[in-house]
Amino acid sequence: MTGGSGVRLVLVGPPGAGKGTQAQLLKERLGVEHVSSGDLFRHHLSNGTELGELARAYMDRGELVPDEITIGMVIDHVDQIADAAGFMLDGFPRNTTQAEALESALQQRGQRIDRVVHIQVADDELIRRLSNRYVCRSCQRPYSRDSVTGAPPARCVDCPDGGDIYQRDDDTEEAVANRLSVYQQETAPVLEFYRQRGLLADVPGERPIDAVHDSVLRVLGVADAGAVSRS
Ligand code: AP5
Ligand code: MG
Ligand code: ZN
Repeated sequence: MTGGSGVRLVLVGPPGAGKGTQAQLLKERLGVEHVSSGDLFRHHLSNGTELGELARAYMDRGELVPDEITIGMVIDHVDQIADAAGFMLDGFPRNTTQAEALESALQQRGQRIDRVVHIQVADDELIRRLSNRYVCRSCQRPYSRDSVTGAPPARCVDCPDGGDIYQRDDDTEEAVANRLSVYQQETAPVLEFYRQRGLLADVPGERPIDAVHDSVLRVLGVADAGAVSRS
């Protein structure tokens, strides 16, 4: 990364807020790279790497993986993205130490985060969403159980040949409760960190996926966001 022109975003919000869902839509719309720290850890896990083994216990309990492991993994990944592509971070930074590390890594390259999108959803809705969530094992795209039949999706629309659909090990009731409390204690201060820098944009997340997407485009100043979310 050396002083490029691609837009650099952070998506922040509690577990189940729809960060991965919105990132997928933004990637299709803006062509920026999606960097999810959780997806990177799950990729390591499914490849049986040492880093994945280290992360597993923390993830299964719904705790943060230590900064010494997480920060290097994400910054190394961001470093490999071409300037012109830009990126959106999903699930990182998750505490103020990570936010400071990201800021200083970007500063060294004459760059900064352009906008931080905060997706707001209440706890009861988060719990409902996570108990109904299924994920593609190969690309990590999130899905929901069918609202009428209650059935999980048959396969991933992006990976028609592979696309094994599964439920995450940390979507158990106990782990979800812990993730929500870790979010309040450790991640909520990151909102203040970015608010002080004038970068934070709050987006109400308890509306249909397309309406949330439209609001995200608006706060990013993307001109031709559709008319769906005028409410
Ligand atoms: P991570 O993978 O980041 O999980 P998370 O933050 O808990 O968030 P989720 O992926 O569960 O939710 P999401 O906001 O992406 O929602 P989604 O779009 O899937 O982290 C997992 C673990 O890894 C952490 O607990 C930690 O151990 C470790 N880790 C990761 N990053 C770390 C870091 N930086 N530092 C330390 N440790 C780290 O949507 C959820 C469901 O809702 C889906 O079914 C979706 O279809 C549905 N949905 C989405 N939008 C809507 C809508 N508008 N209306 C109705 N349903 C919707
Ligand atoms: Mg996610
Ligand atoms: Zn897939």
